[in-house]
Amino acid sequence: MSGQALFRRNEFLHASLDLGSSAIDLGDYATTGLRVVCVGPSGIGKTNAGLLLAEQLAAQGWMSVLMDPEGELEALYEGQGAVVDDVEDLQRRLTARADPFLIVKVRDAAEFVPYAQGLMKTIDAERKPVFLMIDEAQIFSASRKRQEAIGEASDLVNDFVQRGRKRALDLFLSAHRFSGSLHRSVFANKNLCFVGRQEDPTAWSALAPQFKGSGIGFADLAALAPGEFFCFSRRGAEKVTMPMAEALKAVARPATIVKPALPSTFSQWDRAIAEIPLDRLDALTPAVVGLLSTIAGITPPQLSGGLRALRDERSARA
Ligand SMILES: Nc1ncnc2c1ncn2[C@@H]1O[C@H](COP(=O)(O)OP(=O)(O)OP(=O)(O)O)[C@@H](O)[C@H]1O
Ligand SMILES: [Mg+2]
Repeated sequence: MSGQALFRRNEFLHASLDLGSSAIDLGDYATTGLRVVCVGPSGIGKTNAGLLLAEQLAAQGWMSVLMDPEGELEALYEGQGAVVDDVEDLQRRLTARADPFLIVKVRDAAEFVPYAQGLMKTIDAERKPVFLMIDEAQIFSASRKRQEAIGEASDLVNDFVQRGRKRALDLFLSAHRFSGSLHRSVFANKNLCFVGRQEDPTAWSALAPQFKGSGIGFADLAALAPGEFFCFSRRGAEKVTMPMAEALKAVARPATIVKPALPSTFSQWDRAIAEIPLDRLDALTPAVVGLLSTIAGITPPQLSGGLRALRDERSARA
């Protein structure tokens, strides 16, 4: 196969991803390959999402290479001989294709560079399906032009994104935010995207373009639990609830789901409002109340109960 261009990835034609609440037919990606980006703050299940995809693709003919900046994956696969010794070991084992998973310990961009170069060289010669997970990808990709190792690593990540397809390389990158994290080329070229819970309303401006026309708003995003994502695929946007990856399930408990609870009845509002100082109550003009209730996603009956309690409290304190 060496030296040939890949126009269609036959391994995609009968492959799929089981995301728990829904499945993705990878036939949709046969001509493009997969470039997955997963975004969300710490603890929402990004590493789990990458591992889930790595496990499923490894079971369908891919070799999964996991870049491990935190030593987290090394611990998960302990005793399985999955950790590579050095760049030559990575290249040798990529060619032998005897291991479903390879873990590469790369604490920083400087350590990443030789592995990324070695990987590119081998996949260029082999052209057999490889799934590369780059967890915490902001360590290796930069949003601005940078010097030294991070600049070089960032160029290599862009190379994977832009030239991976013809080398049968599929990618998964995770990051904490859409803005100021990865190089724009990564975001521009993604074709499968998972967005997890976002509790910071100021991050919405960077996220809003992604959600344009989807009917999904900030309140929907703030209400997601760990393992829940909005998934943007070839078929459109949908909410998915992912199962836990086998490797993580063995050591971690599923997160307990805590949904934000807002007052709904008049008496609940009355109690909540009684604790608010007067100057802050005065700041609750109809426009502010309208805005806050839209952000929080409260229903009209909830809102009218809250407004009655607010009026009541004001006249009681007057
Ligand atoms: N699909 C899931 N269902 C239930 N619980 C989950 C799921 N995914 C993750 N969790 C829980 O959330 C915890 C954190 O998951 P994970 O390590 O994947 O988050 P993360 O987004 O990678 O966090 P960080 O950015 O800090 O690395 C897990 O240990 C597990 O308890
Ligand atoms: Mg993680």
